[in-house]
Amino acid sequence: MTTLQPTPAPTTVPGLPPLAARVRAVPSSVIRDLLALIERPGVISFAGGLPAPELFDVEGARASFDAVLAEAGPRALQYSPTEGNRALRDAVAARYTERGLPTDGADVVITTGSQQGLNLLATALVDPGDVVLVESPSYLAALQCFALAGAKLVAVPSGEDGVDVEALAALADRWAPKLLYTVPTFQNPTGRTLDLANRQAVVAVAERHGFRVLEDDPYAELRYSGEPVLPMAALTGPGRVVSTGSFSKILAPGLRLGWVRTDPSVRAGVVVAKQAADLHTSTVDQAAAAHYLAAGRLDAAVDRTRQEYRRRRDALLAGLPAALPPGSRWTTPDGGMFVWATLPEGWDTTALLPRALEHDVAFVPGAPFFPGDPQPSTMRLSFTTYGPDAIAEGTRRLAAALAG
Ligand SMILES: Cc1ncc(COP(=O)(O)O)c(C=O)c1O
Repeated sequence: MTTLQPTPAPTTVPGLPPLAARVRAVPSSVIRDLLALIERPGVISFAGGLPAPELFDVEGARASFDAVLAEAGPRALQYSPTEGNRALRDAVAARYTERGLPTDGADVVITTGSQQGLNLLATALVDPGDVVLVESPSYLAALQCFALAGAKLVAVPSGEDGVDVEALAALADRWAPKLLYTVPTFQNPTGRTLDLANRQAVVAVAERHGFRVLEDDPYAELRYSGEPVLPMAALTGPGRVVSTGSFSKILAPGLRLGWVRTDPSVRAGVVVAKQAADLHTSTVDQAAAAHYLAAGRLDAAVDRTRQEYRRRRDALLAGLPAALPPGSRWTTPDGGMFVWATLPEGWDTTALLPRALEHDVAFVPGAPFFPGDPQPSTMRLSFTTYGPDAIAEGTRRLAAALAG
């Protein structure tokens, strides 16, 4: 039977100083540790949440890298500005403008994945002891960034419609936070989307209480049904909402290309933090991505991905009624990569996982996603990695595992 043990905490070596308190205080991501244990051949894993590699446009990427190396030659391999490749910044800005958020290329800083954007923003915005409000459940690797910056994390309850706005206002009153971290569109882990009225309400609370909102939005372009919702940054004045975005889910995660969109006051801090982190994101990768976008290939690639992920989402949603015990509930996301299921009271999905693995199927137990009180009966299921037939087989295995 597989046992699920987290990566051991760093040990002290006699005669050598201990690691910095900030890394000793922040545990390794339980979920990453868990994925390393459960990703083995034969397992149909709803756990990982990797974009589907067969949808990566390898030919298009190769053509863009070839063109950039042929046309720019050594310049494509040279150091470059911290803020990023101007053509790529302009292309990101144009996509925001199309989505209803007028943006100039100067508002965008290219980062090494949006994960780095989160980290740079934590460095730029958070002092030790500051309160950062976070959705519960939430995306753990963001919480690691805030914890490493010394923040005190306070969980905001979230329901079917995303952040609970009344609870947010009460917590803002009590804690005078600096920042709210939210994934408003097709959230990781729940797949939920905050609707326009709730976005407006959240922004109004932020305005009233004088805090910023970090809108982490890597999934917004992966919509399979329903109508797009305006980014939160479009609902308030400059500087109030800082946004991060990514090419990971719409182009390829291995490129490690993301961005921060913000006003000049925050951008200056992000640039200083980025200089210290890595000077700049890979010159050649940015240039290739800019070429790829200019060639008009991204929209076609995103369309293909959307069509395929829609089929995969539908296959998972079709299989769940027979797989999960009576009384279970689950989200029906309009996009993104995840379905969040809540089993009836009394079920513990962490205890269930070893049994699922015996049936060669896996999911992520929900408990680690909660910064506050965990809900042990929850689980995250990703639908992007396998085709509809494998997903259907996975749900049959899940049914067998849950039946005991
Ligand atoms: C909500 C959220 N934010 C940020 C990231 C980081 O993505 P990347 O660094 O690949 O852009 C992820 C990755 O899964 C995510 O789910």
